[in-house]
Amino acid sequence: MTRRRAAPSDGVLAHHPPHLAARGLRLAFPGRDGDVPVLDGVSLEVRPGELVALVGPSGSGKSTLLDVLAGLAEPDAGEVLIDGRPAPGRAGRLTLMPQRDALLPWQTVARNVATGPRLAGVARETADGEARAALARVGLEGFEDHYPHALSGGMRQRAALARTLLAGRGAWLLDEPFGALDALTRAGMQDLLLALWEEHRPSVLLVTHDLDEALVLADRVLVAGPRPARVAGVVEVTLPRPRRVEVSASAEFAALKGDLLALVRETGALA
Ligand SMILES: Nc1ncnc2c1ncn2[C@@H]1O[C@H](COP(=O)(O)OP(=O)(O)OP(=O)(O)O)[C@@H](O)[C@H]1O
Ligand SMILES: [Mg+2]
Repeated sequence: MTRRRAAPSDGVLAHHPPHLAARGLRLAFPGRDGDVPVLDGVSLEVRPGELVALVGPSGSGKSTLLDVLAGLAEPDAGEVLIDGRPAPGRAGRLTLMPQRDALLPWQTVARNVATGPRLAGVARETADGEARAALARVGLEGFEDHYPHALSGGMRQRAALARTLLAGRGAWLLDEPFGALDALTRAGMQDLLLALWEEHRPSVLLVTHDLDEALVLADRVLVAGPRPARVAGVVEVTLPRPRRVEVSASAEFAALKGDLLALVRETGALA
């Protein structure tokens, strides 16, 4: 595996097991001409409170990987560890924000966001209050009783983020959370995610094919090549925190982007 830039000192983190780890995950889907490998020995770690991005081209297996990590799909080989322990029955122990926002169309925004606490057995009124507070935090005050179809794409993603925030179970797995948004809305959402992460410090694995987004947000960027996915390299993002999107205008950012592009080219993803 290629590693660019020296890792900053891990400090005390070195004594803690990673919050989330994958070891040698393999998965193939049956195809017309035999099995199609999608995950080819994926190994990665997300330390407690760390924000890790995984970049890879479309169709490389990123969503499949998140499904396996979340416990929604079984790998053919390899294992997933939570807090250093194998976690076979882990569905529900991690918070997955799927690629297409999964807001239920027949429920109001507040009800959608309250799903997590409701499933955890929190009383309806309490859950509703928590949902309204989370919606206010993501800038959706006044839209609590709207239905999802009445929201713009960016507002729906805000609602999905509020739901993720409130679900609060284990590490967050974010699947191209801002992929469908225009550039300005996307920048605003990146700022919002940075602020939420600084407030709550969840362990996050964020999948994206946007190199700038990965560098703006992450502590480390893992690079996967074309399918089948495997982590081919990592860039340590040495940019100072707290960050806002303006960090992408710095010379240090440009240097890191050069490193990342070189790594992406090596994987064959630019071919
Ligand atoms: N349930 C399934 N059955 C068969 N093949 C599948 C299944 N799910 C995904 N695949 C295939 O696995 C490959 C990886 O798909 P996946 O959705 O994980 O890619 P991705 O990296 O998330 O792509 P994108 O960036 O476009 O979201 C694709 O070739 C896809 O067709
Ligand atoms: Mg995907």
